[in-house]
Amino acid sequence: MIKKVAILANGGDVSGFNAVIRAIMRAAMTHGIECYGYIDGYKGLVENNYIRLDGNPIASGIIAKGGSIIGSSTNTIVFHYKVKHEDGTITYEDLSDLCVKNVREAGFDCVFTLGGDSTQKSSRDLFLKGINTIGVPKTIDNDVACTDITFGYNTAVSVATEAIDRLHTTAETHHRIMVLEVMGRFAGWIALESAISGGADVALIPEIPYDLNKAAEAIKKRQARGKNFSLVVVSEGAMSKDGTIEAHEAEGLDSKSGISIKFGGIGPKVAKELQELTGMEARCTVLGYMQRGGTPTAYDRVISTKYGAKAMELALEGKFGVLTVIKDGELSSVPLEEVIGNNKEIGAVQGGTADSNVRRVTMDHDLVKTARNIGICLGD
Ligand code: F6P
Repeated sequence: MIKKVAILANGGDVSGFNAVIRAIMRAAMTHGIECYGYIDGYKGLVENNYIRLDGNPIASGIIAKGGSIIGSSTNTIVFHYKVKHEDGTITYEDLSDLCVKNVREAGFDCVFTLGGDSTQKSSRDLFLKGINTIGVPKTIDNDVACTDITFGYNTAVSVATEAIDRLHTTAETHHRIMVLEVMGRFAGWIALESAISGGADVALIPEIPYDLNKAAEAIKKRQARGKNFSLVVVSEGAMSKDGTIEAHEAEGLDSKSGISIKFGGIGPKVAKELQELTGMEARCTVLGYMQRGGTPTAYDRVISTKYGAKAMELALEGKFGVLTVIKDGELSSVPLEEVIGNNKEIGAVQGGTADSNVRRVTMDHDLVKTARNIGICLGD
């Protein structure tokens, strides 16, 4: 019998967090279950900081609201938790036992973990330690394994599409190459899909190491056809055939954990090199956090609501240690064990590392075939 549940939103925010929170809360209310929210994701779990959501005015009217009403935190994995001491030193500690104790004392029958691959890895690990967890797949990058789509992705694609549309008119007016750098650390879904929807000419994604000469050739061919401008979309994690990813480690973050790595810089690099190769003027726009903020699209509101309602359905069925997924259009669930892939070691630090199981664009995917068929250059 489920009487009391908690929601935890973790990782970089996305549009749709609140829609999932709302759906879980409303499904809980339908079944007379108390619903709580941990403040700032796993941080709230460590600090035992949570609030009641059902009946709380802060949880009302939130379906269209960006961000997360209960906050979120990045780089906070309870098995490798960053602790800042009074003397300024930082250590990483395994606080998972404390979390287990906190959940038990609060009396939560289930904790819903809204997040990406790192969050779901920790969710699996907490499940192995005896906590009833159910994951809901989030990321704008759309790179959570075992599901066709994560919530937040569609909004990011829609923001990127609007950006391409706006760059289109200025590119055309000034006869320039406009490069748009979008998010996507290890997977190029946003770049690929928005390049198709925005009518871009080149899309560079992490899965296809690029040769910029190919992109320059495509741009010159357009020029020869009288098209004196081109639009290029590049994922932040894209890299050249002989180059490295333009990434740097943010100050003070953990070098062991992949999630600390900040990407950025590939867009300006590509623009500069394309200018040299084509002789055309090139400019770069880095879209950044615009992709994560603001109101979710109707599509994201609906899949977030489906995911949230399904998560509560699973809890009522007593199915824990699973992730809600959409596979071939069907709303279902898979064991978190499958989601984490080979990263079996409990508590191991993960997230965008060689061990993590991110879902990347495959060369036989419809989006790749479509892009190639309509002549979008993928840099290969
Ligand atoms: O994982 C989603 C994502 O938006 C990445 O594409 C991006 O590199 C990262 O988060 C940046 O997150 P933050 O700066 O909040 O750590």
